[in-house]
Amino acid sequence: MPASSFSPMASPKLTYCKGNHTAPQNHLKNGLSKRNGISKSLQNGTANGTSLYKKPFIESFEEAPMYVAVMTYIGYGLVTLFGYLRDFMRAWGLEKCHMAAEREEQKDFVPLYQDFENFYTRNLYMRVRDNWNRPICSVPGPQFDLMERLTDDYNWTYRYTGKVIKDVINMGSYNYLGFAENDKDFLVPVMDMIQSHGVGVGNSRQEMGNLDKHLELENLVAEFLDVEAALVFSMGFATNSTNIPALVGKGCLILSDELNHTSLILGSRLSGATVRIFKHNNMQNLEKLLKDAVVNGQPRTHRAWKKILIVIEGIYSMEGSIARLPEIIALKKKYKAYLYLDEAHSIGAVGATGRGVVEYFGVNPSDVDVLMGTFTKCFGAVGGYIAGTQELVDSLRAHSHSAVYATSMSPPVAEHIIRVMKCIMGYDGTLVGFQRVQQLAQNTKYFRRRVQELGFITYGNEDSPVVPVLLYMPGKVGAFARHMLKRKIGVVVVGFPATPITEARARFCISAAHTKEMLDAVLTAMDELGDFLRVKYSRQGESHRPPESEETNMELDA
Ligand SMILES: Cc1ncc(COP(=O)(O)O)c(C=O)c1O
Repeated sequence: MPASSFSPMASPKLTYCKGNHTAPQNHLKNGLSKRNGISKSLQNGTANGTSLYKKPFIESFEEAPMYVAVMTYIGYGLVTLFGYLRDFMRAWGLEKCHMAAEREEQKDFVPLYQDFENFYTRNLYMRVRDNWNRPICSVPGPQFDLMERLTDDYNWTYRYTGKVIKDVINMGSYNYLGFAENDKDFLVPVMDMIQSHGVGVGNSRQEMGNLDKHLELENLVAEFLDVEAALVFSMGFATNSTNIPALVGKGCLILSDELNHTSLILGSRLSGATVRIFKHNNMQNLEKLLKDAVVNGQPRTHRAWKKILIVIEGIYSMEGSIARLPEIIALKKKYKAYLYLDEAHSIGAVGATGRGVVEYFGVNPSDVDVLMGTFTKCFGAVGGYIAGTQELVDSLRAHSHSAVYATSMSPPVAEHIIRVMKCIMGYDGTLVGFQRVQQLAQNTKYFRRRVQELGFITYGNEDSPVVPVLLYMPGKVGAFARHMLKRKIGVVVVGFPATPITEARARFCISAAHTKEMLDAVLTAMDELGDFLRVKYSRQGESHRPPESEETNMELDA
């Protein structure tokens, strides 16, 4: 790879490298540059000497101090040891056993579960289970109501007290634009739709379930995304899992980001194509796999792959990172691969007018072969879409299992999505949609900046409304969520196996509907709790910028 030029970025916190450098030397998993345990995404791809990025691309994945990693492992080690001890006591009848057990008359059967399979759930998750699956009993707006529940047996079972915890600030829903609301005026057309069409369609698109509302929505989605055509489905998950198999099959290669959503993974597996995983958002690794695929072809026969499909997401909902779309497009063009982009979390949430990462990076929508997205996040509804060329959509209309066999989208849901999309596009004659997109961007910037100032380690892109705050130790994760709830703030905490074992976190989802007062209340609570639990691990303040020669960058030929 030739020496490459580095395009300057505009953050005042960073110093920039302007000269030419040799190939990256100090790469971490995401092509990051690291100093003092702090890694920042510095590389900006270039093509023919010009930057592929129209604006700075800043992501941070600060590493925990060594003592935190050690304490986290010790923490897991201790609860695992206690787990073994308690399992031993349960086996000998010294402790009451709540877990499912094989029935006496089935003793001779091959056990359906191995005892160890649920070890983690039984002994680790059970200690903090009260922080998950709390039933809510209101619209998941910026605030919601929770049903109070208590446990008398250390989280094995719960009973409801009949009380409702009212007006809890909701920092966990994917309600990025605040359209998960029960505003009467907004819902009138949806209610009219129920009266005229009912709720269910009772058939698939290919048979008798094809309504004018579906076609209206598809035309609107195509217009919104500035592509030729679109096809909508009643479920986002199935949009991925049933359409990838309609696009690729045996003899094809899928290159999949390691952090892709399970619906993409299922679709890739169901397709029968060979799947290879590249490191998250790591362009060097992706290029290596592409190069290898083109040079060596299929295993054994060395025939060329029938198709190569790169599968990525726009915003990664566990890391808060944004796909390096311009570089991926340059790579896919260079190696003549196809690109499948899942915009579940990015459509509506980023881009000046909410058109997702395509707009965010200012790339041409036609450079993405398959645009996928869901209506469950920003649109406050349900369902998914695939958009792109007319040829692509026609083919999927005929071959996708969801289009052929699944019941089509409920008409009131289609109506709701149409209303929201028209609002975002300004077709309702107001600026409400546009203002919400702008508000989300502002709220995101404000919240991220303040959380970093408080000294927490956050992951991801500065423009991503998903803000993971790293807590690391399992005991602190549970305590954090409980104490936040006492202050009427609902947060989602995530740990292993959804994250690496040492990277448990709270994941904040910012919404345009959050007011500054709400965000400030959350920040005040975080500040107090951060000191109390000692989880302000960031050393950003102490960091030095890496010397210029250590900055990483890469060059792609167009
Ligand atoms: C990236 C991604 N794709 C697809 C889906 C599935 O979408 P849905 O929940 O609308 O079925 C999700 C769900 O969260 C997701 O995060």
